[in-house]
Amino acid sequence: MLITGGAGYIGSTAVEIMRSTGYEITVFDDCSTGHADSVPAQVRFVQGSLLNVAEIADALIDVDAVLHFAGKSLVGESVENPALYQRVNVDGTRNLLDEMHRANVKKLVFSSSAATYGQPQEIPIKESAETVPTNPYGATKLAIDQMIATEAKMLNLSAISLRYFNVAGALNCQRGWLAERHNPETHLIPNVLRSSTDNPVRIFGTDWQTPDGTCIRDYVHVVDLIDAHIKAVESLSSSGHEIFNLGSGDGFSVREVIAAAEKATGHKIPTIDSPRRAGDPAVLIADISKARQVLKWTPTFGIEAMVADTLASF
Ligand code: UFG
Repeated sequence: MLITGGAGYIGSTAVEIMRSTGYEITVFDDCSTGHADSVPAQVRFVQGSLLNVAEIADALIDVDAVLHFAGKSLVGESVENPALYQRVNVDGTRNLLDEMHRANVKKLVFSSSAATYGQPQEIPIKESAETVPTNPYGATKLAIDQMIATEAKMLNLSAISLRYFNVAGALNCQRGWLAERHNPETHLIPNVLRSSTDNPVRIFGTDWQTPDGTCIRDYVHVVDLIDAHIKAVESLSSSGHEIFNLGSGDGFSVREVIAAAEKATGHKIPTIDSPRRAGDPAVLIADISKARQVLKWTPTFGIEAMVADTLASF
């Protein structure tokens, strides 16, 4: 199994869980945002770029399936530098698909995003919802989903795109906690837990059309997310392309996440009401009935566990 992006937060969690259940893993990562020290000694590690086809070909040696996590994933950065997102995410995945075809690797699970839907017309969001991304990041994920669908039709690829909602939490393994180590950190839960009186967490918008005025998101624990990947890759047989939403099916407002963090830490979280962040939709909640039915997947961790595990991982 090739795990691209296996040195990153979500990818390294996949590596750890799959390695410990007997999968033979190769990790491919350029370490631009991932960390080489997240890759365990027992796996083959090719440090390389999706923009270098020779390095991809090397990584694909003796591989029968690919979990493709690698990519740029910050909405704000994608607005400032759309060309970077086009190059790494879209052109990089084009190279990966070409090299997979050359190496006759026919199974792919891709990390897509709820950002492909944009501003949803209906909540909860089904996979059949209209896809109108509101930022370049979401547009690149959508372009890749479409590229994979074509590849499945034309070249007998067997593929699944998993559209993540908000991934949180951490895995505790023998090597310790595999934490979210982003710099800068933009995600809500780590920012809330690191909040201090000198540097209070900003609440981006308190005038949204939601019960408490703050944005609502669907948080899914990274361990549940990887369980869905394993079920997805094991389900691949005949050629085709399917899309599944991965969330918990439940929404939590920014203030509810802060309340959960106050419970976990036992102290008040300093906050500061701030203007809305560009590109944020008010509410994103997944309809996960397709993943439940087809992949037989059930998320098991609630928001309390996601907050507690993130706290423990610091
Ligand atoms: N938020 C704050 N303060 C912060 C950070 C975030 O108020 O310091 C708010 C955001 O405005 C948003 C919510 O908390 O309403 C969650 O924000 P995150 O940055 O944690 O996550 P996003 O919902 O923006 O984005 C996540 C992934 C994206 C993916 C998207 C799809 O990080 O890659 O979910 O739903 F595209």
